[in-house]
Amino acid sequence: MQLKDKVAIVTGAGQGIGAAVARAYAREGAKVAVVDLNVEAAAAVVAEIAAAGGEALGLACDVAARASVEAMAAAVTARWGRVDILVNNAGITRTAMLHKMTPEQWQQVLAVHLTGAFNCLQAVVDGMIERRYGRILYVTSTAGVLGTIGQINYAAAKAGVLGMMKSTAKELARHGITANAIAPGAATPMTETIRTDERFRDKYLERIPLGRWAEPDEIAPAFVFLASDGASYITGQLLAADGGMTIC
Ligand SMILES: NC(=O)c1ccc[n+]([C@@H]2O[C@H](COP(=O)([O-])OP(=O)(O)OC[C@H]3O[C@@H](n4cnc5c(N)ncnc54)[C@H](O)[C@@H]3O)[C@@H](O)[C@H]2O)c1
Repeated sequence: MQLKDKVAIVTGAGQGIGAAVARAYAREGAKVAVVDLNVEAAAAVVAEIAAAGGEALGLACDVAARASVEAMAAAVTARWGRVDILVNNAGITRTAMLHKMTPEQWQQVLAVHLTGAFNCLQAVVDGMIERRYGRILYVTSTAGVLGTIGQINYAAAKAGVLGMMKSTAKELARHGITANAIAPGAATPMTETIRTDERFRDKYLERIPLGRWAEPDEIAPAFVFLASDGASYITGQLLAADGGMTIC
């Protein structure tokens, strides 16, 4: 088991990639806080993990709201005494061409991806510094690397996440804490339009050298690796699990 007895927080773990990561972490022996806005979805993932013999705790939390994040981190620490791994995965899209995007759509996306990741980082970092151990994982996207049409807010947020990841890695290295990012390929309902709408589907697929969409369970092993002891000398890096889309 690669994460035996580690304590992990996975945000946005009620479905999609976050749920796949929570299940994979639990299979590898971690105690997992399944954190989501949608508490029923989080509870369902916790039940699945428990049924498979793992240990998990479901927590309702809005990562964009500071007090909500502080309460969530306090609940995890009360239950398991510490946090070893933070996966900043919670995300939303508010898609619109840039000339039509509302200020609210712009702000909502930045609030979840950037402020949300910042809130979670600050809620766990003091304990990691004290124990001289921590793994921070950020989730970015090919959109943050390459840009994308109709998602200037999302591309800006995901490029911002990369800057946060590199700053986190540089600032916390001296405390024994690593920070890395994963860029998943199109895998879940969040990207349903590009995967199913014939206006986009074939053009997008042509840009993926492996020539197919990803499954969330194909993305999760990258998160396991970067949180494991095998990645102890890796920090400040982007690992793209994107079928080769960002090869340059
Ligand atoms: N799906 C893809 O193909 C893809 C590709 C690249 C990057 N990503 C990124 O991967 C991450 C997960 O994406 P996904 O496709 O699994 O998304 P998803 O929409 O399936 O799941 C996101 C989860 O985050 C939760 N969430 C949303 N806002 C929240 C908030 N404020 N606080 C707490 N939880 C919140 C939702 O309730 C949901 O359960 C996101 O950061 C996304 O940007 C996804």
